[in-house]
Amino acid sequence: MKEKIQEKFRTLFGEEGELFASAGRVNLIGEHTDYNGGYVFPGAIDKGIIAAIKPNGGDKVKAYSLDYDEYVEFGLEEEDKPSQAWACYIFGVCRETIKRGGKVKGFNTVFAGDVPLGAGLSSSAALESTYAFALNYIFENGIDKFELAKIGQSTEHNYCGVKCGIMDQFASVFGKEGSLIRLNCKTLEYKYFPFKPEGYKLVLIDSCVKHELASSAYNKRRASCENAAAAIRKNHPEVEFLSDAKRVWLEEVREEIPEEDFLRAEYVIGEVQRVLDVCDALERGDYETVGEMMYQTHFGLSKLYEVSCEELDFLNKLARKMDVTGSRVMGGGFGGCTINLVKDELYDTFVNAAKEQFTAKFGHAPKVYDVVISDGARKL
Ligand code: GLA
Repeated sequence: MKEKIQEKFRTLFGEEGELFASAGRVNLIGEHTDYNGGYVFPGAIDKGIIAAIKPNGGDKVKAYSLDYDEYVEFGLEEEDKPSQAWACYIFGVCRETIKRGGKVKGFNTVFAGDVPLGAGLSSSAALESTYAFALNYIFENGIDKFELAKIGQSTEHNYCGVKCGIMDQFASVFGKEGSLIRLNCKTLEYKYFPFKPEGYKLVLIDSCVKHELASSAYNKRRASCENAAAAIRKNHPEVEFLSDAKRVWLEEVREEIPEEDFLRAEYVIGEVQRVLDVCDALERGDYETVGEMMYQTHFGLSKLYEVSCEELDFLNKLARKMDVTGSRVMGGGFGGCTINLVKDELYDTFVNAAKEQFTAKFGHAPKVYDVVISDGARKL
């Protein structure tokens, strides 16, 4: 991929660029907890974005996407927002860097990626983190890593219409080979957990479905959580985020909030605790508990948070039936992948059965990705 990128860069700009990369992510547990101030437990993966970049001495960005085979030029002022979605991510990162007092001048760039789109593996965070990291390096802005992650997050909020939490960009910037990272999204304290489960594999089964309106449904979930937190806060002013609330405090406001908001909040409060339980279980090498928590998360995401779909529920049910240790829908939901913790000896049987039975039911084959926990944003 690096060679192809440089080759295109030379063709377009007559020289080579400096190479930067960042990664997509998986999340073992802790879904929809980030914007609620709870815990998440992600890691960067061996699929990501690579970009070649070089300042061009002007005030325009000249960008080429190898995957879309598309060239776009845009300026760096607020009104220069390009119309192509992929270019908006780069533009947003430039703008958010500038808003933080960073310097960004015109540059040439070519990029490509191998994060499957719409699979819930955060291809957009990989793109944002690559450019946040690269611009910081090239223009010597000295912005710290957390702020680089926030630049990506603000790009989603202000230029792409998704009110996401910090998990994806955090994982993409802070990712470390072989480690998952538990992040407290309220205090931003984090801890690396080496993750090499003896006798198990993590595998993703991609349903290859992506539901329309996923971002507005996502924003709606967030609004429900904020509504529930606001109701609880009236009785318990210490509740800054929903993750600060106890289950009994939620019960107190059950009649005051829509049932839907109650169910969303019930899921979140349970999920925050599950992340801690999974981390403890991992330290004991207790993968059965890890797996059981994953199933509980799936149940919550499907029945309370309602971000699963028929295809993902099917994969989850099949995993359960085949005695797979853990399985759940991963990421924002509304399509994408299940993440599965599978005993080595069951791996082939499970993956083959998932492919066959899913194809028979839905008329298209799922994709299968092994999870390799890898490094995040870096200069190559
Ligand atoms: C998306 C968002 C994240 C997070 C997950 C759900 O990936 O970008 O911030 O909320 O959904 O856990």
